[in-house]
Amino acid sequence: MEGFYLGVDLGTSSIKVSVSNYNGEIVCAKSHSYPLLTPKKNWTEQNPNDWYNAFIKVLKSLGTKIDLSLVNAISFCGQMHGLVVLDKNDKVIRPAILWNDSRTTSEVDYLNNVIGKETLINETGNIALCGFTAPKVLWIKNNEPDNFEKISKIMLPKDYLVYRLTKNFVSDVSDLAGTLFLNVESKKYSSKMLSILGIKEEQLPEIHESYDCVGNVCKQVSLITGLNPNCKVVVGGGDQAVGAIGTNTTQNNDLFISLGTSGVVFTSIDSYKFDKNGRVHAFDHANGKYLLMGCTLSCAASLNWWLKDILRVRNYDREFSKIDFSSVSDIVFLPYLCGERSPINDPDAKGYFANLNSFYKRDEMTKAVVEGITFSLYDIYKVYKSLGLSFEKARVIGGGSKNKKWLQMLADTFGIKVTTINTSDGGTLGAIILAMVGDGRYSSVQEACNDLVKDVDEYYPNLELHQKYELKFNLYKDIYNLQVKLRK
Ligand code: XUL
Repeated sequence: MEGFYLGVDLGTSSIKVSVSNYNGEIVCAKSHSYPLLTPKKNWTEQNPNDWYNAFIKVLKSLGTKIDLSLVNAISFCGQMHGLVVLDKNDKVIRPAILWNDSRTTSEVDYLNNVIGKETLINETGNIALCGFTAPKVLWIKNNEPDNFEKISKIMLPKDYLVYRLTKNFVSDVSDLAGTLFLNVESKKYSSKMLSILGIKEEQLPEIHESYDCVGNVCKQVSLITGLNPNCKVVVGGGDQAVGAIGTNTTQNNDLFISLGTSGVVFTSIDSYKFDKNGRVHAFDHANGKYLLMGCTLSCAASLNWWLKDILRVRNYDREFSKIDFSSVSDIVFLPYLCGERSPINDPDAKGYFANLNSFYKRDEMTKAVVEGITFSLYDIYKVYKSLGLSFEKARVIGGGSKNKKWLQMLADTFGIKVTTINTSDGGTLGAIILAMVGDGRYSSVQEACNDLVKDVDEYYPNLELHQKYELKFNLYKDIYNLQVKLRK
C-alpha cells in the first residue's frame, strides 16, 4: 500500500482538504466553513480555534472515506498576511486580524511616509499595505498595549494549524514574504523592521522553504483523527504561491492569471527582482525561488456587480453568447469598485463608465466591463514588462476561466497565448505537491508539476485586435489619471 497525501487550503470562508492517492490523483475532498467576524467597519477577524476545530472536523469526515493512518504527508496553502498572536501559555490573545482588514491606515501611512517606502523596499522588497502583517503588529502596539505586552509568539494563519499539528513553531518564506518583516531576497528577518515594530526574533517562527518537512503529527491529533504519528507535516505556503505550484507556474517567466472575486497576475522568477515603486509584490516562491504578483481587487466581483446586482442576470453563458467580442468597444469601464491594490495602490480609486452614448445598450456595457477588468490585469502585466520580463503564455485559473470569450479577450489584450489547465483547484493540488516533495515522493517541485499539471485548451492572440486594445488601454489609463486629478 503506497498511501495518500493531504492538501489543506485554509481560506477566508472555509477550510478545504483534498486527498490524493500515491499518483497525485484526487480521490476525495471535504470542506467546512467558519464565521468571518466584522466587529467594526473595515475590521475582519477570525478565531484561530475555529480554523483548528473546522480542520479536525474535516479530517474526521475524511476518515469515513479513507484510512487516515495511510496518509504519508500533509501540507498547507494558507490565506496570507493574517496576524495570529499567542501568549506564553500558547493561548490565542485576540482574534486573528485578516488580510482583508483595513483598520491600519495610520500605521501604513507611518511606515510608508515616516519610515519611508525606500527603506521598506530595501529592507523587505515591498512597501506597506493595509493587508500586510507588520502594520497589524503596530496597530496592536498602538491600540491594545496590554495585548502587545502579552505576545510570546507571532504567526500566520496556516502556521497556527502547523503548530497545533506538530507543536513546532515554524513558517515558510512564501507566507512570511507578505509580512513586511522578512527580507525577501535573503529570506531572513529584517532586524531593522523588527526594531521598528518593537518585536524580537524569538517571538517569530523558524523560517523554512515551503516544501520542508517540519515535523510529524503529534500524539494528541493522531488520537482524535486517526492520522498516523509518522505522518509527515510539510509546512506549505501562502495561497498565491502554493496555488501557482498547482498551476505549474514554477519556471522562470511562467505566468498565471487568476480570475476569481479578486484577480491575480503572478510570475515565477529564478532570481530576485523587485519594483522600486512597490507597484507589485516581490515575494518568495514556494519552489525555493522568487515571484512577482499583483492583485486587482474587483475582478469577477465587478462582473458579478454588473450582471447579478444590476442586470439581475442568472445565466452568464446566455448573456455572453449574445455579445460580439471580435471588436473593441468604445465604452471605458474602470473596475475600481472597492479601490485598487496593484499596480496603482489606491484605496480611493472608484468605478467608472465613460464614453456612453444612447445607442449603447446592455451588451456593449457588459463587454466594456469585461474589457475594464482585463485592463486592470494588463496594468499589472505591464509592470512586469517594464522590469524587462517577457512572456510566451499565460495559464488562466479561477471561476472566470470557464468563460471562453473572456479567455480569448485575455489572449488578444495581452498579445500572448492563453491556456487552461486540468485542475480547477490549484490551492489544494499545490499543497499536495509540496507534501509529496517533502515526503520524497518527487525529488523536486518541478518534477511533480510536470507530472501532475497539464495544459488543456489554448487561445491564440489576434494581433490586429491586440494593437487596438493597446490603444484603448492608454485611454483607460488617461481616464483613471483624470479621476485622480479631479480628486485633488
Ligand atoms: C495575497 C492575498 C490573498 C490572501 C487571501 O497577497 O492578499 O491571496 O492571501 O486569500
